[in-house]
Amino acid sequence: MHRSKVAGVGSFLPEKVLTNHDLEKMVETSHDWIVQRTGIERRHVIADGDGTSDMCVRAAQRALEDAKISVDQLDLIIVATLSGDYKMPATACLVQSKLGAKNIMAFDLNAACSGFVYSLHIADQFIKTGVYKNILIVGAETLTRMMNYQDRETCILFGDGAGAFVITRADESDKNVVMTSHTHAEGSLYDLLWVPAGGALEPYNAETATNGRGFMRMKGKEIFKNATRAMASCCNEALEATATKVSDLDWIVPHQANLRITEAVSNYFDFPMDKIISSVHETGNTSAASIPIAFDMAYRDGRIKRGQLIMLTAFGAGLTSGSALLRF
Ligand code: UT7
Repeated sequence: MHRSKVAGVGSFLPEKVLTNHDLEKMVETSHDWIVQRTGIERRHVIADGDGTSDMCVRAAQRALEDAKISVDQLDLIIVATLSGDYKMPATACLVQSKLGAKNIMAFDLNAACSGFVYSLHIADQFIKTGVYKNILIVGAETLTRMMNYQDRETCILFGDGAGAFVITRADESDKNVVMTSHTHAEGSLYDLLWVPAGGALEPYNAETATNGRGFMRMKGKEIFKNATRAMASCCNEALEATATKVSDLDWIVPHQANLRITEAVSNYFDFPMDKIISSVHETGNTSAASIPIAFDMAYRDGRIKRGQLIMLTAFGAGLTSGSALLRF
């Protein structure tokens, strides 16, 4: 059985920024309320004319460069997204073409904010079984084009961006490997966070275009409670599977949804906040993109270093959740 490793990391945030003060002019909210309740100060907004696939490509190119792997060495591309360019085909196919990768399997994965951890889990299986050697996983979202800018409970939270890992087969002597990964879903809670219209059950029509059911809806408090519980439980699962103590971790990189959720995880594990990566002030919630963006920011500014022990943990609509423990 082979082991997989994270060979390269990259991310992309669009230049345009939407600040809390900008939002004050759009809905009844305030910079202070948003910062106190979420920790978010700004979020990035995709450039006009760009799609999710364009952000994927930029993040992927940085990750490939970091991994020193060329596009023609890739065996598989997974794009975790709930905001792909089209309903069909998969955004991963557009990414494959725009990167110039030839004739390899490419698919999208929708596990909402847990999508990146789900993708890592799947990539790890393909490497372990020896089917593939080099896999690109990208988390990318264009959420600002899915927001109802009249709903202050959701529109203040979400932003755009992309992040990518190149996952490769580790050498037998390699100590830096993906040690374990775990994924879950609790589908009975699907309507805590969802977009009711636009799917097969309630297709877009004149009514759903105007009644708000085509936009994201969320029961924030319920999500909050479940998020903390799910992330703690997934981390515990990874710690137990590898006989690791939480105090052995160099970093936790959680899904970036709300600074108070991150603080709850810190309190639960009695793990210091300054060893939990947070980028939510800069990015807002970028769903499947949030973990690789936060990871890449900390990697590029020198906090995250090769050889460190790092826990990724996520939760999201579905309700999905997951964790992965890496020796980076
Ligand atoms: O990736 C997963 C995605 N989702 C999440 O992670 C969301 C998890 N939930 C949360 O982050 C929080 O529940 C929110 C940030 C969404 C809301 O924070 P909260 O502390 O749960 O606030 P609340 O919903 O209990 O609202 C408190 C008050 C309410 O007013 P009243 O009823 O006390 O008068 C809201 O109407 O704050 C009001 N409020 C706002 N005020 C200013 C709600 N949204 C806003 C807003 N600006 N944007």
